[in-house]
Amino acid sequence: MTEEDQDQDQELEIPEGSVRNILEQDSLKWVFVGGKGGVGKTTCSSILSILLAEVRPSVLIISTDPAHNLSDAFQQRFTKTPTLVNGFSNLYAMEVDPTVEEEMGSTEGMDSLFSELANAIPGIDEAMSFAEMLKLVQTMDYSCIVFDTAPTGHTLRLLQFPSTLEKGLDKMMSLKNKFGGMINQMTRLFGIDDEFGEDALLGRLEGMKDVIERVNKQFKDPDLTTFVCVCIPEFLSLYETERLVQELTKFEIDTHNIIINQVLYDDEDVESKLLRARMRMQQKYLDQFYMLYDDFHITKLPLLPEEVTGIEALKAFSQHFVTPYQPSTSRDRVEDLERRVSTLRQQLQEAEAELERLRKGKQVA
Ligand SMILES: Nc1ncnc2c1ncn2[C@@H]1O[C@H](COP(=O)(O)OP(=O)(O)OP(=O)(O)O)[C@@H](O)[C@H]1O
Ligand SMILES: [Mg+2]
Repeated sequence: MTEEDQDQDQELEIPEGSVRNILEQDSLKWVFVGGKGGVGKTTCSSILSILLAEVRPSVLIISTDPAHNLSDAFQQRFTKTPTLVNGFSNLYAMEVDPTVEEEMGSTEGMDSLFSELANAIPGIDEAMSFAEMLKLVQTMDYSCIVFDTAPTGHTLRLLQFPSTLEKGLDKMMSLKNKFGGMINQMTRLFGIDDEFGEDALLGRLEGMKDVIERVNKQFKDPDLTTFVCVCIPEFLSLYETERLVQELTKFEIDTHNIIINQVLYDDEDVESKLLRARMRMQQKYLDQFYMLYDDFHITKLPLLPEEVTGIEALKAFSQHFVTPYQPSTSRDRVEDLERRVSTLRQQLQEAEAELERLRKGKQVA
């Protein structure tokens, strides 16, 4: 039996996984993180990028969620150009808005002409700007790129973009055949140079299709790309995760990691009836997750009493991504309290000494 088999055996017995497999897979270039709204995608993708930055030369985290929140997680402003994350030398972050089309055409007339055409092809503007972004990112030479994606529906739409673009292109072609030189006349009417004319537009789409085909090939290569599903142990999230996994399978995108966030742990002193009931409910869905995804690496994360914002909090929470969380035992708590008592005692002594010093000083004065 090889070491790996043993590891796997152990994993079957104690179903505790981690994201180590992702950190160890040197070939990975694209890591998508997705799931239902509010389950912890931004938190998890931020932490994954921090962990990857420890083992890779350079890492970029991109948010494709129009309601950006990388800035909240890292407590630092980010823009649509990669910015170094404070305190790191090889971790960059950027926030792009896939619903805003900015790059197409540099004249007003062309913009409106394009948007007319784009309206005829739902999703094409979004696909185009996503493609523009990928084209840009590809030239930047990051060793690994993590995507903090928008809630499920949106993400799947972006992953569908190659076929959207293909359809768009076909439609453009048929428009061209139907209306002959009309588009060209229109561009002349708007006083647009040939370089922005219909042929240029088609050329641009063709060029984009090229990028997209290349990227699409990479997305379907499990050596280069994986999708991490984040969820919580509740019915809707389980349901959504299953839908997501099925869609990813349909698009041939590799996925074998699930992060179950906001898990309540039974650390003995939970007395609240409500919490106990929630725990039982969570356990039911946890069991189902382990049953449905027995070939996945499942990472469980505890629900914390506070939010996970700022680099320090993210780093502290990141330990549970590599070593399974253990609820604290009463012995841990006794030790913990002893430590706190001794720290407080020391602080009290220092404060008393300081007070004494100040009082004496006053008397002298
Ligand atoms: N395990 C946890 N314990 C406590 N708070 C958490 C935990 N995980 C995430 N949070 C907090 O919950 C909030 C939502 O998390 P996050 O922004 O990562 O979710 P999201 O899936 O990206 O949400 P959205 O769909 O809105 O983008 C944040 O304030 C985050 O700090
Ligand atoms: Mg988010």
